[in-house]
Amino acid sequence: MTQTITVIRGDGIGPEIMAATLHVLDAMKLDLAYEEADAGMVAQEKHGELLPQATLDSIARNRIALKAPLTTPVGEGFTSINVTLRKTFDLYANVRPAKSFPNTKSRFPAGIDLITIRENTEGLYIGEGQTVSEDGEIATSTSRITHKGAERVVRYAFEMARKIGRKKVTIVHKANILKSTSGLFLKTARVIAAQYPDIECNEMIVDNTCMQLVMRPEQFDIIVTTNLFGDIISDLCAGLVGGLGLAPGANIGDNAAIFEAVHGSAPDIAGKGIANPCALLLAAGQMLDHLGMPEQAARLRNAIVETLEAKDNLTPDLGGSGSTTSFAEAITRRL
Ligand code: NAI
Ligand code: MG
Repeated sequence: MTQTITVIRGDGIGPEIMAATLHVLDAMKLDLAYEEADAGMVAQEKHGELLPQATLDSIARNRIALKAPLTTPVGEGFTSINVTLRKTFDLYANVRPAKSFPNTKSRFPAGIDLITIRENTEGLYIGEGQTVSEDGEIATSTSRITHKGAERVVRYAFEMARKIGRKKVTIVHKANILKSTSGLFLKTARVIAAQYPDIECNEMIVDNTCMQLVMRPEQFDIIVTTNLFGDIISDLCAGLVGGLGLAPGANIGDNAAIFEAVHGSAPDIAGKGIANPCALLLAAGQMLDHLGMPEQAARLRNAIVETLEAKDNLTPDLGGSGSTTSFAEAITRRL
């Protein structure tokens, strides 16, 4: 049966890396149909709004979206479109794998294969209670953790560990200082962890986690944590494996899922045809896993690894002199 997905080409390098990604997916003959929808600056120009209702309707209908980066204009009055999408569809688990690939500019040439699962709807990112006193001296903002929110993301982490054969989940927190919020997250996580005796579980305070990630990343398998910590840790992990051009992410909810690169619209290289399409391609791989096509996901990842091994048409961020399209073509030849 044909699977229809919503495709958002996005801003900056978005249209270039999406074209490359769809070219590779088309070559795989997966029986996917694309429903194009606008968001970001393109949507603002075409429809007068950053996130048109038609786009939300398309995602609600198809429940799966592949999304290129979107530019959020800097300035008051613009909420991040990404945050709005995560909230609208209650995409509570942000799954960000970091894996060593050959021929990347990374300090750890091999051995890293970890997944950060970040709570995606709560914590400091709710954006509530943001005030600055009239004299500009005092700023506050509200952080909120709920038992339900903590429970579902931690359960997701343990279920994922079971499903894909991972051995260990590390709960990352700061409950020693943030007693109420991080405290509730940790307390809830311990109860869930006890229900999965087959999966090893440990707890680690977030600052020590950062040091451990840099010193001995191989000790981690799956990390589950709150929104802000997960945002920071997943970028650290992207850095460990050679940069943003190789870092994909999935935003998962019970009723919808959006797959995207971790990186943004890269305005500095937009239109030059040199953006690395791998992050979005790897996100498409996560999408295929999610759609119950693990063999096809593995086929796609293997073709990427073989292309990196052969240093065939790699883009400049990986030290090559290939283009977005020639790199994608080299991957297509290895499918
Ligand atoms: P960025 O991720 O766009 O760029 C950071 C650096 O990485 C730049 O030097 C860029 O050239 C490089 N880079 C990123 N992706 C690359 C790729 N595929 N190949 C080669 N080099 C790549 O971050 P920045 O500049 O902070 O943000 C630009 C815009 O993107 C902002 O408007 C921001 O709001 C938006 N953004 C959107 C995201 C999303 O849609 N999920 C996520 C992060 C940022
Ligand atoms: Mg981030």
